[in-house]
Amino acid sequence: CMAAEPTNVNEFQELARQALPKMYYDYYAGGAEDQHTLKENVAAFSRINIMPRVLVDVSKIDMSTSILGYKTPTPIMIAPTGLHKLAHPLGEVATAKAAAECNTIMVLSFSSSCRIEDVASSSNAIRFYQVYVYRRRDVSALLVKRAERNGFKAIILTADTPRLGRREADIKNKMISPPLQNLEGLISTDVESENGSNLQAYASATLDDTLSWKDIAWLKSITRLPILIKGILSTDDAIKALEVGVDGIIVSNHGARQLDYSPATITVLEEVVHAVQGKIPVLLDGGVRRGTDIFKALALGAKAVMIGRPVVFGLAAKGESGVKKVISMLKEELEITMALAGCCRLEDITRGHVRTQTDRLR
Ligand code: FNR
Repeated sequence: CMAAEPTNVNEFQELARQALPKMYYDYYAGGAEDQHTLKENVAAFSRINIMPRVLVDVSKIDMSTSILGYKTPTPIMIAPTGLHKLAHPLGEVATAKAAAECNTIMVLSFSSSCRIEDVASSSNAIRFYQVYVYRRRDVSALLVKRAERNGFKAIILTADTPRLGRREADIKNKMISPPLQNLEGLISTDVESENGSNLQAYASATLDDTLSWKDIAWLKSITRLPILIKGILSTDDAIKALEVGVDGIIVSNHGARQLDYSPATITVLEEVVHAVQGKIPVLLDGGVRRGTDIFKALALGAKAVMIGRPVVFGLAAKGESGVKKVISMLKEELEITMALAGCCRLEDITRGHVRTQTDRLR
């Protein structure tokens, strides 16, 4: 008998679990160590209430916005996640096609399993490129330049990964990553690991853990594209990001795959937004599973949100159409949330439309 069609994004997780070998499902679903932050990313959203306004004409809802000048019908973006070919044979090409059909901005991971050129030529989605900085700086620089040449519109520097977090499921499973095609001929990707995940062994052989704020100047020197820093969780770092002159920041804890017990992203968003004073856009990812979550993030000052695991689970369950379904479900949920809360445009969603735990203590 046919499984029932999913009615929300969370239901794709179980479909993905059924579709994937355990090693790959665990790689996508897992977080670091105790997975405390993994649970908190989702749980923290549930502690925020939405305060509706009634008797507003909500017959026309407009969810459109622009990010770095690129128009998008919803404040929803696809977060960079690695190795889409482990979820579906067409990998990031399928994800990019779905993004194009939804007019959703996609961030391609540095750990993409498809070539930058193939993702670029497969669709006309607006794409940003995420970069990890390797000790071999020339390798990272080359990939940034390839992305720029292939029409990617911005560079996202992931700043929370000087080393790979301890993902114990991957260690137990001895997770093996397929070779990264973008790095073919540039760097050896078949790192031996007797014990643990070869992902971890590969990361410690390549990632540059000397990377620091002064290196933003280097990144600026190799590209003309706008630069966003991903992985900001404190006001201190938000201010440093302003000082080095980047074009945006992403409040993120890497989907709880790096530092366990780092705060749930939605709990620090407001203070980071405050520190940035509207000078650059602030995006958020981590635990966004519902239109109501997106509404809450916008009310607390995010310009847009990025979606990680649900996109990969959609891809694993139903390929390109699964990714489309995930994006369109979130879009529909955001629309009904706005209607029921009395907001016709994103600008109508204000701080007064949510009540957090700390508000309730006041
Ligand atoms: C990620 N993330 C990530 N981030 C990044 O900058 N580069 C990467 O290659 C990856 N790879 C990756 C793989 C997988 C399987 C996951 C789940 C996540 C982090 C990602 O961009 C994003 O921050 C989180 O996924 C957001 O949290 P949710 O939506 O998954 O809860």
